[in-house]
Amino acid sequence: MSKKIRNILKKKNKSKIVSLTAYSKNVARILDKYCDIILVGDSMANVLYGMKNTHSINLDHIIQHSLSVKKGVKKSLVVVDMPKGTYQTKKEAKKNAKNIINTTKCDAVKLESNNKNFNIIKHLVNSNIPVMGHIGYTPQFKKKFKIEGNTVDKALNLLKEAKSIEKAGAFSIVLECLSPNASKLITKNLSIPTIGIGSSSECDGQILVTDDMLGLSGFYPKFVKKYVSLDRIIEKAVKKYTKDVKQKKFPNKKNYLNGTKFR
Ligand code: KIV
Repeated sequence: MSKKIRNILKKKNKSKIVSLTAYSKNVARILDKYCDIILVGDSMANVLYGMKNTHSINLDHIIQHSLSVKKGVKKSLVVVDMPKGTYQTKKEAKKNAKNIINTTKCDAVKLESNNKNFNIIKHLVNSNIPVMGHIGYTPQFKKKFKIEGNTVDKALNLLKEAKSIEKAGAFSIVLECLSPNASKLITKNLSIPTIGIGSSSECDGQILVTDDMLGLSGFYPKFVKKYVSLDRIIEKAVKKYTKDVKQKKFPNKKNYLNGTKFR
């Protein structure tokens, strides 16, 4: 097990794990100072590519964006989402996960649970590929965006699923859209850290889609806290640029390339 992963495990019950998504070097470089984990999420489907769900993201998309993210990261653990359909059998999962890790030099892969694919996680872990699990609302397998684990029976079923993922060897697990009670039950009964999104502060850590918390994506369910409205800031800058171009204020002499100097 790598030192970075050991450090994440050590945080359980000690300090909260900070995590965000990134799809590019420039964003990853900023997040790296603050995050323990950076996820190259298949949420890039909706956020970057304007797709209607995450299903059409493929290995090439994920690898290209992971290569970019990795260039901006010095210290955080970089986890890469395995796209839908790339981990259906043990053989295929190993081949694709190895391709991701070997090509990008990222630290781990994340795969969504369908409450059956524990043997896939085990096979990857036995092949020295660190795995993060993901339960609750799993967009690759579930159509309906809803609160998960909001009855005692449903919470116990999720605990069973989480326990199987832990047993299979995952080093952590994302809990997406779980009720606070289910999150608490799972977090207390697992020895690996839980990373919540829409799952209350009962988890060992938190993750958000960066474009959501920056106010860029236009997707703001109740569990997203918008820390800034970057859309408005960008619009203001673009408006000013447009005015400058039209009024011939940009470029001005300071921006002219005279002689040999670029800077
Ligand atoms: O793809 C993604 O960004 C994710 C997070 C929502 C956890 O899986």
